[in-house]
Amino acid sequence: MSSIAVVVPAAGIGKRMQSEIPKQYLKLHGQTVLEHTLNQLISHSNIAHIYVVLHPDDMLFSTLDIADADWITTVPGGDERSDSVMAGILATNHADWILVHDAARPCVKLDDITNLLKLSKDNTGGILAAPVRDTMKRGDSQHVIKQTVCRENLWHAQTPQFFPKQQLLTALHSCQQAGIAVTDEASAIEQMGGTVKLVEGCYSNIKITHPEDLALAEFYINQQNR
Ligand code: C5P
Repeated sequence: MSSIAVVVPAAGIGKRMQSEIPKQYLKLHGQTVLEHTLNQLISHSNIAHIYVVLHPDDMLFSTLDIADADWITTVPGGDERSDSVMAGILATNHADWILVHDAARPCVKLDDITNLLKLSKDNTGGILAAPVRDTMKRGDSQHVIKQTVCRENLWHAQTPQFFPKQQLLTALHSCQQAGIAVTDEASAIEQMGGTVKLVEGCYSNIKITHPEDLALAEFYINQQNR
């Protein structure tokens, strides 16, 4: 297995959560979302260290039980998610591949991570994703349907996303230079004309975005622990 560095962007302020506290610090079963995410990642047998990217003004991480763990390095993040990911990657050393996982996805399954890591054998990166189930509509600004989008081959992009370090750094840098906003790593690789594989993951790997997602995440974590 190639050497892997894990980067967890956790520098967001979670505007959509309508909460005073950034969503990665909200509690699930008495522990923060971020702790659940980090503990789940470090329990994977191929993960030995995690670079956690924090908001420069973060005052909460140091209060967590895991703050002093020797498997964690903290890195100051940037204005956009891609800036934070870039900062995290630049802090890593001796890694051939980078696995990026959102702090706000605490329900990721270890088997799905294992399936994603297998991509390194073919030297092509990829992402966890789930096929779209609903009928998809494109609307206009007045919320009127303009088109029904065929859902065949449509996927929900998730994290982790897993790419060769040099390829990902080059892609993110090029997007930054060209002023192209990307909301995930795959988009940056796509912009460069690179190939990105889709590895089917679980629908339970939700990103906590809205308040109701917390109860759902608690349900999925309960299921995993049974
Ligand atoms: O805002 P969104 O839900 O897309 O954020 C996804 C992840 O990226 C979250 O874990 C968030 O903390 C992180 N993020 C970051 N730096 C930013 C914005 C978001 O690390 N500037």
